[in-house]
Amino acid sequence: MNEQLTTGKTLRLASGGCCGGPSVSAEPAATEEKKIKSQVQAYYSERVQTPSSGGCCTKSSARAVNISELAGYQRETLASIPAAAAEKSFGCGDPLAFTEVQPGQTVLDIGSGAGIDCFIASQKVGPTGKVIGLDMTPAMLETARRNAREGGYTNVEFRQGEAESMPVESSSVDWVISNCVINLSPAKEKVFAEINRVLKPGGRISISDIVADALPDFVRQDKLAYCGCIGGAIPEADYLSLLTQAGLVDVHVEARLDYTPEQIRGMILADTQLQHRYGAIVEANPQILEQIKIASIKVAGRKPAVDEKLKTRVEPASAKDFPAIAQLLQRSNLPVDGLQEISDSILVARQNGGLVGVIGLERYGDAGLVRSFAVAENWRGRGVGKELGQALLQHAAKSGIQKVYLLTNTIRDLAAKNGFREIPREEVPAGVRESVEFRLNCCDSAVAMERSLV
Ligand SMILES: C[S@@+](CC[C@H](N)C(=O)[O-])C[C@H]1O[C@@H](n2cnc3c(N)ncnc32)[C@H](O)[C@@H]1O
Repeated sequence: MNEQLTTGKTLRLASGGCCGGPSVSAEPAATEEKKIKSQVQAYYSERVQTPSSGGCCTKSSARAVNISELAGYQRETLASIPAAAAEKSFGCGDPLAFTEVQPGQTVLDIGSGAGIDCFIASQKVGPTGKVIGLDMTPAMLETARRNAREGGYTNVEFRQGEAESMPVESSSVDWVISNCVINLSPAKEKVFAEINRVLKPGGRISISDIVADALPDFVRQDKLAYCGCIGGAIPEADYLSLLTQAGLVDVHVEARLDYTPEQIRGMILADTQLQHRYGAIVEANPQILEQIKIASIKVAGRKPAVDEKLKTRVEPASAKDFPAIAQLLQRSNLPVDGLQEISDSILVARQNGGLVGVIGLERYGDAGLVRSFAVAENWRGRGVGKELGQALLQHAAKSGIQKVYLLTNTIRDLAAKNGFREIPREEVPAGVRESVEFRLNCCDSAVAMERSLV
């Protein structure tokens, strides 16, 4: 039997009501998060201490694929840093290639491993700049610090800490880089929120990571595949949308390497344990490798400058928005049930293509019920909610709705400012009161509000 990940696959909150508090307690999620991280830590601890070992970048048997070579470091770049750091590279890209990191700047490398990208960054920021390497695995930090000592690096500091709660001051970093790490986090949205927190306004990201789609469950749930940077990888669209929701702008993929079935096969063969576990399965079912989509991407983006005017676009949701909408609603503790039925009355707010807000309308004759109103946390206070609300009211009026209703205990003031008035629940039309939102999803303390559109 395969060694299973301790997680029951997902740490997302189940959909809940509108009355605050997640519908699954935070405690089991936190325990699972901790367990996964300790498995990852043990894995990389062993990897860095084992001669010629690899993680995301295994080097071994003849038919094996060396992913770190696919990562694309220039030979000269590798020659300019300690050989011991290059040998213990576990990355899947070169996050600093072609970046405009300037002398004097501060670079943070999340999951710095043996320090390869920190040493490359050190040369770019020079003696007046600073590089912080953050990693949670003591053996990695020990190796990185030894490499720094031996290489005489004085502007690089390695800190022990977790990507989900970084020991780094807010608004203190010009660049966040990372190489094949965030796929390993069981709480990626926390990592992205932390990135947004530590960046200075205008600060930038350059992140190399693995994204994956259509992974079979047996891969998703396998501890080795998780630690080897595959099992925890999420689809590219989700990755970009989570970064945007965290508050970053201009989020885009700068470079992508789609691994071919042959390369994926090579990765399996390159790792003795993976080969032992999956070698026979993939040899017998080569079609599995055709279905799986795995890629290494390099993602760029930036934190907006203070008071930067950001143009948000509000438009009807499309079918491919639904995963991101569901994520946003779940994080806002709002129900996702019944969204498909009103798919032609859902509007989304986008920032540079990334989804940062949503609102929907259920129709009951000539009455409409506003539902699923959520704005990503770091986008609140930037006028996104107002734009969504106004667009929805226009959409409702155009489609012949006379009065709109909502049930809330969080946006009472906002709704009042936009022409809604509180009414006793009994005055809400019977059809609206029969809605799932009224019957199940909103507790008694929620206030009913009405606005006429005629
Ligand atoms: C695949 S290795 C990449 C190391 C390095 N970036 C490189 O390119 O060689 C992943 C590294 O991330 C660290 N790591 C994984 N999850 C982490 C987390 N949640 N917080 C901090 N470090 C983490 C591991 O300890 C390991 O050193």
